[in-house]
Amino acid sequence: EKEGEKTLRSPICCIMGHVDSGKTKLLDCIRSTTVQEGEAGGITQQISASYIPVEHIRERTKELKADAKLNVPGLLVIDTPGHEAFNNLRSRGSGLCDIAILVVDIMHGLKPQTIESINLLRMRKTEFIVALNKVDRLYGWKTCRNTPIGKAMKQQSKDVQREFDHRVTQIITQFKEQGLNTELYNKNKERGETYSIVPTSAISGEGIPELLLLLIQWAQKTMVKKLTYNSEVQCTVLEVKVIQGCGTTVDVVLVNGVLHEGDEIIGPIHTTIRSLTPHLMKELGGGAYKEIKAAQVIKITAQNLEHAVAGTALYVVKPDDDVEEIKELVMDDMRNVMSRIDKSGEGVYVHASTLGSLEALLKLLKTPPVSIPVCGIGIGPVHKKDVMKASVMREKKKEFATILAFDVKVAAEAQEFADNLGVKIFIADTIYHFLDQFKAYVDNLKE
Ligand code: GTP
Ligand code: MG
Ligand code: NA
Repeated sequence: EKEGEKTLRSPICCIMGHVDSGKTKLLDCIRSTTVQEGEAGGITQQISASYIPVEHIRERTKELKADAKLNVPGLLVIDTPGHEAFNNLRSRGSGLCDIAILVVDIMHGLKPQTIESINLLRMRKTEFIVALNKVDRLYGWKTCRNTPIGKAMKQQSKDVQREFDHRVTQIITQFKEQGLNTELYNKNKERGETYSIVPTSAISGEGIPELLLLLIQWAQKTMVKKLTYNSEVQCTVLEVKVIQGCGTTVDVVLVNGVLHEGDEIIGPIHTTIRSLTPHLMKELGGGAYKEIKAAQVIKITAQNLEHAVAGTALYVVKPDDDVEEIKELVMDDMRNVMSRIDKSGEGVYVHASTLGSLEALLKLLKTPPVSIPVCGIGIGPVHKKDVMKASVMREKKKEFATILAFDVKVAAEAQEFADNLGVKIFIADTIYHFLDQFKAYVDNLKE
C-alpha cells in the first residue's frame, strides 16, 4: 500500500427508504445477521449502526474482479426506520452520514417516505445509491444466490427481463418527477449528475456485490478530503438507551479522532468514560476496548448518562480546555433538540426505551386525528415514582392518569402501586398499538 492510503477512515452510510422496502433485511444480508426477524411487528423503531470490516466487503465483492482497491478500513452502516412517525430518526441518520443507500421496493416504486428521504438527502447534499430491492419478487425470477446482478440478469427469462425493464423505466420516471436523474448503474455514464440504481434482493443476495463495490468506490473517489482521518474528536450521540445491568448507556458515532477509557466528556452531561464497546459484526466478538479510533459506532457506559441527548455532539476535554466554554457549546446544540419535545401541563406520561422512540411517540400523539396531550416523559423502566407522578392527573382528568410504556419494563411493585392508585399503564412494543389501546380505554371510561 502506498503512503497516505492508510489515512482514510470508514465512510458512514445511512440506509433510508419507505417502510418495508427491505432496509434492515438488506443490512442483514450484507452482514449475515438476522436482526429483522427479531423486530417487533417486523418494523424498525430505532436507529442503530454497525461496522463492516473491509475484509468482509472484499469477500462479498470478489466475484466482480474489479481489481478493486479498497482503501477504507470498512463501512459503518446506520439503519433507520421507514415508518412515517420516525422522521426525526431519519433526519438524525441522514445528518450523520457521508453517503446513503436509498432503498426502493421494485414492486411498489417511490412512496411517501422515499420522497421524504430524498428531500433529507438533497437538503444535506448527500450522495446516494438507489438499491432497487426485491428483484426476486419479479414473477418467474430464477434465484442466483449472492451473485452479481449483472450475471443474475443473464440467467433470467425474456419475460422476467421485460417486466424488469418495464418497472425500472417506471421508477426512473418517478424519480424524474422528483427532479432527480437516475439510471441503472451499468448504463450510468454521468455519475454525480445521475444517481445509480443497483437492483438487489435482500433475501437471495443478488446485486449485493455491485451495491457494496459501487458504494465504496464512489466514496473513495469523491470524498477523499472528507474521509481523510483527522485526530480531532468528532462524536455524535446516536441514541440514549437503558440496558439491563448497565444503566443508561449511549451509542455514539465517532466520526474522527480516538476515544479512550477514562476520557472526560461533555454533552449536556459531564462525566468520565467507564467503558467503550464497539458495535462490531457478531463474529468479531464483543467486549470492551481501552481506546477506539474513528470511524466507529461505540457503546459508552459512564455515570450520569441519563441526561445525554441523542443527536447532540459529545466533546472530550483536553488538558488546556476551558470546561465552561465547552458547556456553552453544548447548550446551543441542546436547545435545538429539546425544542422538539413538547411538554404541556395536562396529559399522559410517556416512557420509552430510547430518546429517539420517545420523540417519535410524542410526535405521533400530537398528529391529527389523534390528540393525546403529554405532560411528562421518561426514558427506561417504569418505577413507583413514575406512577406517583401520573396519579396526580386523577383529580384533573381521569383518562390522563395513564402511562404509555413503550418497549420498557414495568417494575412489579410499580404495577401493583398503579393498580391501587387507579393509574392505567399501557404496555406496547409497537407505537401504533398504543393508539388503539388508549382510544378503547377512553371510550370505555366515557360509557
Ligand atoms: P422498516 O424498518 O420497518 O421501515 O422496514 P425495512 O425497510 O427495514 O424492511 P424489512 O427489512 O423489515 O423488510 C420488510 C419485509 O420485506 C420483510 O418481510 C422482509 O423479509 C421482506 N423483504 C425485504 N427485502 C426483500 C427482498 O429483497 N425480497 C423479498 N422477497 N422480500 C424482502
Ligand atoms: Mg427496518
Ligand atoms: Na419492516
